[in-house]
Amino acid sequence: MLIREAVAQDWPRIWPFWHRIVAAADTYTWDPDTSEEAARALWMAPAKRVYVVEDDTGALVASAYLTANYGGPAARIANAGFMVDPDQGGRGIGRALAEHVLDAARAEGYRGMVFNAVVETNPAVKLWTSFGFTILGTVPDAYAHPRHGRVGLHIMYKTL
Ligand SMILES: CC(C)(COP(=O)(O)OP(=O)(O)OC[C@H]1O[C@@H](n2cnc3c(N)ncnc32)[C@H](O)[C@@H]1OP(=O)(O)O)[C@@H](O)C(=O)NCCC(=O)NCCS
Repeated sequence: MLIREAVAQDWPRIWPFWHRIVAAADTYTWDPDTSEEAARALWMAPAKRVYVVEDDTGALVASAYLTANYGGPAARIANAGFMVDPDQGGRGIGRALAEHVLDAARAEGYRGMVFNAVVETNPAVKLWTSFGFTILGTVPDAYAHPRHGRVGLHIMYKTL
């Protein structure tokens, strides 16, 4: 698989799984009805460094962004987001992409990374913990999950 920085022309190949993941409304805090134009503005914002993963057939199977989580004197704390095409999950793509983005964040001079809202029922919590992220706290009952009802949102942090 190839992990590279995204170009604008990649967006139409990100959107199908972006839409599927956000419409499922079980991992992200974005509106499940987010339009394609609004989604592109969110994911491909100029302030974000965006990455994509191509598999051996050239299919675009995942994307991630890296950006500053705060501004001014706190601008050295990063935030990132990850999406793997649900049809390609569980094959190590997410872990490889996360390793790549963490390395990129260190290279950019970030000192830590924060995830602001990790749904507590998301299997990704285990993935992030395996990278050394810790749960700083949990906003209780914040997220209306389609199957689990109201669940908490973890704030997770890792020093880089
Ligand atoms: C979270 C996500 C990026 C993981 O990507 P992935 O390619 O499926 O993950 P990997 O195959 O690299 O697996 C990573 C680890 O997580 C675990 N894992 C991943 N998805 C899992 C699932 N649905 N159920 C249980 N465990 C899971 C695996 O056991 C694996 O552990 P291992 O590396 O020790 O074997 C992907 O599932 C995704 O895009 N989810 C929807 C969006 C999302 O939740 N993003 C993160 C928001 S915080």
